[in-house]
Amino acid sequence: MFQHVEFFAGDPILSLNEAFLADPRPEKVNLSIGIYADDQARLPALDAVHQAELRLAAANTAKPYLPSEGASNFRGAVQALLFGASHEVVTSRRAATVQSVGSSGGLKLGAEFIKRWFPGSGVWVSNPTWDPHRAMFQSAGIEVREYPYFENGGGVCFDAMLSALDALPAHSVVLLHACCHNPTGADLTRDQWITLIDLLKARQLIPYLDLAYQGFAEGIEEDAFAVRALAAAGLSFLVANSFSKSMGLYGERCGALTVVCPDAEQAERVLGQLKATARRTYSSPPIHGGQIVAMILTDPKLRGPWEKDLERMRTRIQAMRAQLHAALVRRHPAGKFGYLLTQRGMFSYTGLSAVQVDQLRDEHAIYLVRSGRICIAGLNTSNVEIVAQAIAEKLEHAR
Ligand SMILES: Cc1ncc(COP(=O)(O)O)c(C=O)c1O
Repeated sequence: MFQHVEFFAGDPILSLNEAFLADPRPEKVNLSIGIYADDQARLPALDAVHQAELRLAAANTAKPYLPSEGASNFRGAVQALLFGASHEVVTSRRAATVQSVGSSGGLKLGAEFIKRWFPGSGVWVSNPTWDPHRAMFQSAGIEVREYPYFENGGGVCFDAMLSALDALPAHSVVLLHACCHNPTGADLTRDQWITLIDLLKARQLIPYLDLAYQGFAEGIEEDAFAVRALAAAGLSFLVANSFSKSMGLYGERCGALTVVCPDAEQAERVLGQLKATARRTYSSPPIHGGQIVAMILTDPKLRGPWEKDLERMRTRIQAMRAQLHAALVRRHPAGKFGYLLTQRGMFSYTGLSAVQVDQLRDEHAIYLVRSGRICIAGLNTSNVEIVAQAIAEKLEHAR
């Protein structure tokens, strides 16, 4: 019956994580998957989340189905987080927001929407990008192409990026990482965003922002720069945002898709179509995680501690970047490691080859993605010197 069904080779990052979990070596280090770990190599449970859960449990509320677009308190809180509560986009009701099953679910709703309502549009993603992007759009029947984004050793190749985008047909969709680019950690500067936005506007392109790491680069407000700059330029665009990393709610699957429209009437139409897509896919989003998010975002007693925890996560990642940098420079003074200090968020590209990555895993139980991407959030004060030593040895051999 199912002989014709092809085997799935497995997601490369998730498979690597499974291999890590099965590795019996006690000194093993996981720098592969994009999950924040604290200095004790544990995924922290945030106190604000715990407090919100206690309140939900104490209220002993029923668990009705949510509407297909999600809970209205969650959706309102998302808009306030993205734009600021009194932003014109919010007050004029020209943003359509749906609560989604993680931001992955939001990205996919957006892909379905594009396929249906902009059938001739292709989606351009950065080279490289987070692997699932390509599959999410392709499986919606959309042609996916790449624009140049990153040169190993050179950072963002902005001129090449601009000239590629300048040649796209109107209504092409351009997928952009709003901050903490995954996998490279290399972000556009604010000036570059402004230049890019001018081009997107002039060429009538449709920006699609992926905001999975709000608060991990500079801060909650600062990391919304691209969202607000697009809104200020009067563009219509899509933005998928996530609470997996910023609130440690990975498994609760909390995210949203927001489509900024020219006016409230168009936003109503768009919202209706997003609801229809949700209804025919998973019907409605889960209630529990979304209520935790809404409570934290809207109650100052929870919001304050959350912002502090988020700041702690951000500064720990920055400290690990600085420590790895110093440890590598000490061992390998000729190496160029400045990228560790300028790149932002959980990830950096080390420039290590796939063979070197395999050796790090086999010889030292250090797990990295084969592209050479390292998850800085997997480093801690106990393993950073060990990791630096192993990487420096590999670089020394390669000379
Ligand atoms: C760039 C990027 N986008 C989207 C996601 C999806 O996040 P989630 O579906 O957990 O909200 C991730 C998760 O790793 C990511 O790195």
